[in-house]
This record gives sequence, C-alpha cells and structure tokens, in this order.
Amino acid sequence: MLVYLWSLPLLVRVALLVLSILVCLKVHFKLKHGVCTSQNKMTGKIVIITGANTGIGKETAIDLAKRGARVILACRDIRKADAAKDDIVRESGNNDVIVRHLDLASLKSVRKFAADILDSETRVDVLINNAGCVTTEKKLTGDGLEYQMQTNHFGHFLLTNLLLGLMKKSAPSRIINVSSTAYSFIWSLDVNNLNSELHYSGYSFYNMVYYYSKISQILCTRHLASLVRDSGVTVNCLCPGPVKTGIFRNANSWFFILLGVLYPFIFKTPKEGAETSIHLAVADEVANVTGEFFSDCKINKTNKLASDLGLAKKVWEKSEIYVDLKPEERHY
Ligand SMILES: NC(=O)c1ccc[n+]([C@@H]2O[C@H](COP(=O)([O-])OP(=O)(O)OC[C@H]3O[C@@H](n4cnc5c(N)ncnc54)[C@H](OP(=O)(O)O)[C@@H]3O)[C@@H](O)[C@H]2O)c1
Repeated sequence: MLVYLWSLPLLVRVALLVLSILVCLKVHFKLKHGVCTSQNKMTGKIVIITGANTGIGKETAIDLAKRGARVILACRDIRKADAAKDDIVRESGNNDVIVRHLDLASLKSVRKFAADILDSETRVDVLINNAGCVTTEKKLTGDGLEYQMQTNHFGHFLLTNLLLGLMKKSAPSRIINVSSTAYSFIWSLDVNNLNSELHYSGYSFYNMVYYYSKISQILCTRHLASLVRDSGVTVNCLCPGPVKTGIFRNANSWFFILLGVLYPFIFKTPKEGAETSIHLAVADEVANVTGEFFSDCKINKTNKLASDLGLAKKVWEKSEIYVDLKPEERHY
C-alpha cells in the first residue's frame, strides 16, 4: 500500500496528506465535542447575550429562548439584530426576545445600555459576554483604547461591573465570559501594555492583542469570582472550541484567510459551539462552580499564566483605570 502511495505523483501525495489531516481533525473535534445534557427550563429568567445576532451568540439565544427565558440581544447593528430576533422567535416559539443597542467599542454605549437595563428590567439572571472580534490592524476607538481589546475585554469588563449590583440582587445569577484557548499562545502578559501602548502586535497570524484580550477575560473571571464569592453570583469563562462562524471577517492576514477557508470543513457548527455557554447558563451541576475555565462542557485546567491570581488582580485594577470605573459603579 505504502509503496503504491509513494509511486503516485507528488501533487496527489500532498493532496492526500492534507485530506487525511483534515479528516483526523474533524474526527478529533467530533469525538471531543461536549453537549449540554441539562433539560432545565429558564421560565421567568432574564438573560443578556452580547453579540447575539450571529454565530455562537445567536445559537445560544435560540436555545435559551426555547427554554422559556426572556432573552435580551445586546447588539451593535440594530438591523442585523432585528433580523436575528425574527429567526430566534420563529425557531424557539418564544416571543419574549428583545433587541437593545450595545457597541462594546464605545464606553458611552456600554454605560447607556447598562442604564437602560437597570431602568427597564427588575432582574438579570444570566449575563453572557459573548461578542468578540479578530482584527489585524491597529485602530483606536473614540475612547482611545485599542479596538480589539476594547471590544473583547474592556467593554465587557465595564458592562459586567455596571450590571453586578442588579445581578447580586437577582442571585443566584451567573456571569459567563466567552474567551478562547488561544490565550495559551502567549507566555507573558505585561499589564503596562494591555492597551498596546508600548507596542502593538496584532498584524499577522501571531495576533497577540486577541490573545491578550482573551487571557484578560480569564484573569478577570478569576478575580471577580473571588470578589463576589458567597454573593450568589457565579463567574465562569469558556472556550467554545474552533467554530465555523464569521469571526475572521475583519482579519486581514493570510493566516486568518486560510483558517476561514478551512473552518467550514473541519470545525464545529455554531450550534455545537454554543453548548458550553448553554451548559454554564442552565446546568445544575455548575450552579455553585465559580472562577473556572470550561471547554466542551467540562472544567479545563488553564496554564500557569491564566491561573496567576496576583496577575489577575493587576489586570482587574488596570482595566478599572482604562474604563474609568467610578466609585458608584463598583458593586463588589
Ligand atoms: N469561532 C471560533 O472559532 C471561536 C473560538 C474561540 C473563541 N471564540 C469566541 O466566541 C465569541 C463569539 O464569536 P463567534 O465565533 O460567534 O463570532 P461571530 O459570528 O463573528 O460573532 C461575533 C459577534 O460579536 C459582535 N460584535 C463584534 N464587535 C462588536 C462590538 N463592538 N459591539 C457589540 N458587538 C460586537 C458581532 O456583531 P456584528 O455582527 O455586528 O459584527 C457578532 O454578533 C467571541 O468572543 C470569540 O472570540 C470563537
């Protein structure tokens, strides 16, 4: 057999090799894939999901709406969000799906969104900080923060703080941060460069800023969990796994273009990618689990850097400065 394969033209051998790698990866992700087995209903619960108009966020919204929750879609593009709402209502049969404007790349928008929620809702049971982006060009937001870092981490950090008081009153409640195992591609984190002020490294496939944003979410999950321990609010984070969504649509590098091409063939569907978020939102077995990182619906041990509680405190305190967190906005 091997002799026969070796006798084939080089191009055919390379194509067969690539095909075998893709098939192995597909089988690997299928076997590893975790599923939320909880049948719990969410009737009477209020859930906020950021970036819920597409991808993993939309699938999470469909599932939680099916379980009877009032689902608030926190999205930056109202037209897209309205279209997603129609799909979610149709697929779930639940009309209690609401669209609210939230642009995480604007601290003003985050404050306005949170104020609207505090005015209009009596409780928030689950906050899923799901929105995210991958960019490969340096861009500052109107707040002077690095765009990718603000969207993925600083914006959610502020939102979580602003809703924390209401979530404490709504206890037991759950905060869920959608991070990524891609955090493990970095081996150090300089808290003085969280906003890329010393140097920017996001241009190529080694997109440090994305990894900074994802490890910051994990570290702040750990720190917040320690701040609100015994309050009835749990805080956990997760990696959905590699999921075929539009996450790379704004990344302008050969690496991400290649990943975007490969994704549809081998990786999870958005529905499969939503399983861990759903598990953390509904399952009884995680009701008292806090400060952990999950993947495939199971706790996943992180590396030393992402488990460093001293570093977690520093990233938390630095993030407070970047978002200019006011004394009246602190609820821990
Ligand atoms: N897909 C993967 O393989 C993978 C792997 C690990 C982790 N993740 C994480 O999973 C989460 C969901 O990503 P996805 O794969 O579902 O990607 P997606 O399909 O691109 O969805 C991302 C969502 O975030 C929203 N968003 C982007 N920037 C925003 C902003 N400034 N303000 C408010 N919303 C904003 C997008 O809104 P628009 O539609 O308006 O752009 C969209 O709704 C992200 O946090 C991502 O980092 C994904």
